[in-house]
Amino acid sequence: MTNISIKGVGTYVPDRILTNDDLSKMVDTSDEWIVTRSGIRERHIARPDESTSDLCVKAAERAIKDANIDKNEIDLIIVGTSSPDMLTPSTAVIVQHKLGLRDIPAFDFGAACSGFQYGLDIARSMMVNPSYRTVLLICGDKLSSILDWEDRSTCVLFGDGAGAMILRKAEDSQSGIIDVIISSDGEYAPILNVPAGGSMEPASAATVQKRRHFLKMEGREVFKLAIQKMSDVIALILARNNLSIDQIDHVVPHQANVRIIDAIAEKLEIPRQKMRITVDKFGNTSASSILLAIDENRRNGTIKNGDVILTPGFGAGLTWGAAIIRLL
Ligand code: UT7
Repeated sequence: MTNISIKGVGTYVPDRILTNDDLSKMVDTSDEWIVTRSGIRERHIARPDESTSDLCVKAAERAIKDANIDKNEIDLIIVGTSSPDMLTPSTAVIVQHKLGLRDIPAFDFGAACSGFQYGLDIARSMMVNPSYRTVLLICGDKLSSILDWEDRSTCVLFGDGAGAMILRKAEDSQSGIIDVIISSDGEYAPILNVPAGGSMEPASAATVQKRRHFLKMEGREVFKLAIQKMSDVIALILARNNLSIDQIDHVVPHQANVRIIDAIAEKLEIPRQKMRITVDKFGNTSASSILLAIDENRRNGTIKNGDVILTPGFGAGLTWGAAIIRLL
């Protein structure tokens, strides 16, 4: 496998903050319920005129600056999203254009909240090709655009945001991507999805009236599977790399629910102080949640260059995965 360095990270969340108290004026909920059941205190919500590509572009610009590269050095753009600007073309080509780039491949992939792990594995596999030396990987979602703001069981859990990484073939022998595992099981597609708007249920007055364009979730089922799949994949990736949890500096899991994170820590005996948690500030931002947590902890000095980071995740599909990375 080609050695790849993580040259830069950038993230973006919209300015507008929606607190639990704000939500309690919109649906029958309370700050107390949301905090005790999920650990979420607030989330950021995009303006109506801000789309997923706008969030992605802002994150990408920050990652390009962080990597200290010229944007024209980018050879490939990959965007993981569940809330694309439109059904076609891809959000990636819209991002490409907004960044002022052309004549390079750009495409989307759908792995829901496991987008970070999927994106890393796609990037590192493609980077074996000599054409792709510098890759812009972006995970971004405007989930507020597919949430049912009348459904208290889902609308309180999610937020908008984007994260980006600049990956480059490493000149030295150290790799920023130590390992990645991804997997999925479509049997669980019915427990977390947006049923209408695709070819199975094209948009019609009836689908709109039945609120079928919004995200539906069987929360309890997803909760159980999340703990099981993330625990298993953590054990697998540690074993496959002959690593123990003592050799990991930070565990940055997908930020969906603090109770899921606590359950994994308890099950695998991971010291709680190794778990990085930002779900309280951003809610579940899907694929970008790990990048938001890494960036936040890097900026406050908790995560330093050279630290080894384990990033398990799971999402609609069901998809799941884990990566072990090192920012260089
Ligand atoms: O990225 C992947 C995406 N998804 C997830 O990670 C979600 C995984 N699931 C979860 O995080 C949790 O299952 C939830 C946070 C969604 C729910 O927590 P729970 O402890 O599993 O609650 P529950 O669904 O069993 O609901 C308990 C009660 C119900 O009332 P009854 O039936 O006991 O009377 C719900 O109607 O809480 C009620 N409820 C609410 N009450 C106040 C559901 N949502 C709310 C709400 N405010 N927002």
